[in-house]
Amino acid sequence: MSKRILITGASSGIGKGIAEYLAKTHSVTISDWDASRLETARSDMAVKGCEVNTQVLDVTQGDHLEQLKHLADSEGIDVLVNNAGMQHVSKIEDFPPEKWQQLMNIMLTGPAMTTRAVLPAMKKNNYGRIINIGSVHSLVASAYKSAYVSAKHGLIGLAKTVALEVASSDITINTLCPGYVDTDMVRSQIKQQAELHHISESEVVEKIMLKNMPKKEFIAVEELAGTVGFLIGPYAKNITAQAIALDGGWTAH
Ligand SMILES: NC(=O)c1ccc[n+]([C@@H]2O[C@H](COP(=O)([O-])OP(=O)(O)OC[C@H]3O[C@@H](n4cnc5c(N)ncnc54)[C@H](O)[C@@H]3O)[C@@H](O)[C@H]2O)c1
Repeated sequence: MSKRILITGASSGIGKGIAEYLAKTHSVTISDWDASRLETARSDMAVKGCEVNTQVLDVTQGDHLEQLKHLADSEGIDVLVNNAGMQHVSKIEDFPPEKWQQLMNIMLTGPAMTTRAVLPAMKKNNYGRIINIGSVHSLVASAYKSAYVSAKHGLIGLAKTVALEVASSDITINTLCPGYVDTDMVRSQIKQQAELHHISESEVVEKIMLKNMPKKEFIAVEELAGTVGFLIGPYAKNITAQAIALDGGWTAH
């Protein structure tokens, strides 16, 4: 059955890829803080025959979160994908405090507040699926990523807590934990890491990024999209509060 799905941070990368996959069978709203990138994403998708709605939504802004609540209350949101994210690579001693706070606001407080906004409508409808795009860094750490790792670990605690609070309704909340996925964000990290370690970008891929992924390949966006598709389907209604790793074996170490 067709679901009403809203994805945050969906003008690029994983969010956009999930939107394209799900829009084949569902009503999808892509949201992002940047209105012009959002419109570019919508028109890119339309060219491919993939129609989506758009909603400007900065997950750190109270008035945008109010608009999200209004949308959920008036039109209904069955599935929320908390995907918006940002990376900053720095030693903790040099980490700009305002950047640290920004990452926490986008990737931990943001998903908590979007969840807060949509839950009343989900409860009223007695159906909801909330899927956080966490990371392998929800489960393990890497040096120089203290804000990212902290926020992504926090998502698992958030999901466990909310899962208990909504257990009496047909609402689930889970966190996908991918290893490196081939997106613009990863490409910019490759560049940053190359500068930080004074090595070439291909050495970063081989020696740093895929070093911990025994299957030695980046995760494809379609693998995440397919997992979201499974979680919103009929056989996953008792899967809740889980951290689901798609990490090529990283966390087996
Ligand atoms: N690419 C990877 O290897 C990888 C691995 C594990 C987890 N992730 C996670 O997947 C998610 C998507 O990452 P991506 O790789 O597609 O990167 P991306 O940079 O392409 O996408 C992130 C999106 O979030 C949006 N965004 C940033 N701040 C926002 C805000 N305040 N409000 C709304 N939107 C905002 C950006 O505009 C962008 O469209 C992130 O949460 C990231 O941490 C990515």
